Amino acid sequence: MTMDAISQRYLMCRPTYFAVDYAINPWMDPTAPVDAALAIRQWETLRQVYLDLGHTVEEIDPLPGLPDMVFAANGGTVIDGRALAVQFRDPQRADEAPAYRAWFEAAGFEMHDPKHVNEGEGDILLAGGLLLAGTGFRTAHASHAQLQEIFGYPVVTLQLVDPRFYHLDTALTVLDERTVAYLPEAFSPGSQAALRRLFPDAVLATAADAEVLGLNAVSDGRHVVLPAQATNLAAALRDRGYETIGVDLSELLKAGGGPKCCTLRLRQGKAGK
Ligand code: ARG
Repeated sequence: MTMDAISQRYLMCRPTYFAVDYAINPWMDPTAPVDAALAIRQWETLRQVYLDLGHTVEEIDPLPGLPDMVFAANGGTVIDGRALAVQFRDPQRADEAPAYRAWFEAAGFEMHDPKHVNEGEGDILLAGGLLLAGTGFRTAHASHAQLQEIFGYPVVTLQLVDPRFYHLDTALTVLDERTVAYLPEAFSPGSQAALRRLFPDAVLATAADAEVLGLNAVSDGRHVVLPAQATNLAAALRDRGYETIGVDLSELLKAGGGPKCCTLRLRQGKAGK
């Protein structure tokens, strides 16, 4: 089966000021060394993969003092030409929110301001006609109602239970309009049951895949860009007909991030590109 790739528009932020200076998730150890130059080269490789696939990559200027700003997925949620700005749980990342908001506004998106903590596409993923919304660690459950009001897609709340998989995009990836891949044990029993009902054909990841942030993947419907270390998951995806592209983001992994964290999907309205 050949699947169609959909050309996408992404927002990324060069890791000029990337560092692991604080710990707001279990992956982060401020005493462990980080190779900042290597982080930049790895990020440039990821960007080039998208360009080679024919996608468009926009860039937001990185700001000094905001080492996690490279994780653009947390900058907002952008669907049908509307952008919901973010409100971070942790004060260390708070100043990223207005920077991303200003970028969306300048780019012409219809802006909406958050009423509750929400960390953008880290926890909010459009899957077909549903908005999958994570909660438990970062994004507040109360924000899910606002998502439905702004975007008008049915929202499905998913309860995350493992602190290593603190954002939804570390535990689940959207492959195309119909299918997702996820790690069942990262979710509460009720959320696992809901996922089984919604996606009976989902690809189930193994703990080994998730532990290298293999689920932090970016799919255009045909090509799936994922951490190179997630070899089981890559094989399972190839069995389903996807083409996999492994990338090594070892330095960004030290902050708890992978390819998807570095990549915010910009979705224009129906008339847009
Ligand atoms: N250090 C960052 C944090 O803890 C990593 C964010 C990763 N982003 C993501 N979309 N999962 O907030």
